Amino acid sequence: RFDSISVAPPDAILGLTEAFKADERETKMNLSVGVYQDASGTTPVLRCVKEAEKRLLDTESTKGYLSIDGLPDYREAARRLIFSDQIAAERVAAVQTPGGTGALRVAAEFLATQCGPLRIFLPTPTWANHNAIMAAAGLPVETYSYLASDKKTLDFDALIEDLKTKPKAGDAVLLHACCHNPTGVDPTPEQWEQIASVVSEKKLIPLLDFAYQGFGEGLDEDAIGVRTILRQMDEAIVCSSFSKNFGLYSERVGTACLVSGSAETTKAALSQLKRVVRANYSNPPRHGGAIVATVLADEGLTQMWHEELAEMRTRIASLRKQFVDGMAATGVDQDFSFLLDQKGMFSFSGLSPMQVDQLRSEHGVYLVGSGRINVAGMNESKMEWLCNAVAAVLR
Ligand code: LMR
Repeated sequence: RFDSISVAPPDAILGLTEAFKADERETKMNLSVGVYQDASGTTPVLRCVKEAEKRLLDTESTKGYLSIDGLPDYREAARRLIFSDQIAAERVAAVQTPGGTGALRVAAEFLATQCGPLRIFLPTPTWANHNAIMAAAGLPVETYSYLASDKKTLDFDALIEDLKTKPKAGDAVLLHACCHNPTGVDPTPEQWEQIASVVSEKKLIPLLDFAYQGFGEGLDEDAIGVRTILRQMDEAIVCSSFSKNFGLYSERVGTACLVSGSAETTKAALSQLKRVVRANYSNPPRHGGAIVATVLADEGLTQMWHEELAEMRTRIASLRKQFVDGMAATGVDQDFSFLLDQKGMFSFSGLSPMQVDQLRSEHGVYLVGSGRINVAGMNESKMEWLCNAVAAVLR
């Protein structure tokens, strides 16, 4: 009965933004959720997106349902962005989903219903929502080593050892394709080769979470993990998102791409992916996908997007540098220069849960409990204030 329902704990990430909004202090900073903010502290609508929306307003002639797998032009554009021309189109079943989370849920349910019984192995640490998504789809969750005990670097030997010894053939392994969330620590290209060898030799199913393409080094550079895996094996599932690289957070636009060894298998897999979609949300929303398809079909708009994406990426790198320099200037013992080697929006600050609490309660700086910092939420004009607040809890 409803009267016995207990209150769920707030979400580990989105719950903090709710608390941040309710915080009445004038000076505060939200470094929790992975959302980019510009120098004025707003999350901008990209210029290429605004232009595409103008065109859509003029040309859109229907609000009829999309097909279960989404807009064909969108799916094709997403496929090209992820795989370039490495994989023949007929081997890729691409399904437009409500964001990267939607893609992961579709992929997880597909694995549970079509490839089971199997377990999924997640890195330690991983995005706070991975566990819940996999468990909700009925997949037993296991872990493999990722971050070294210094909390700054990859424990590559332990990762390889775990992948060699823990999963059985047929189990799935979730890999962050780039800009590891929450640490910003990525494998090198050579390490990707070795990961791909083990995943292939062990006959594991790679599930690549690719939510930050373009935020590490560049669109193609960031695809190296996906493309290395698919040079060594025929099959993988890639879940991608346009929330971050197009700034389309609230439009919920992502893709689940299944790659198989043959056109025939891909066709069968697509039909099953569509069954999962139909039973969950029927078919995806149009607007976000239509924006992406409009931009990527137009050379000028694509160029504009590349520039805007590079602008965000470069600014995040500069914020990393300013924070590292700012922390050094406070005179604290801790050296934050490891942040410069990390990729994407996030880094592990090394702050303890108690220090994270103190930052929030005493200074109005919001970090995820693990100590993850969203560098893309920092701000030049408040950098000194931020560094002093972090220094105060470190002393
Ligand atoms: C994050 O990790 O902050 C983002 O992926 C946003 C989210 O949904 O948690």
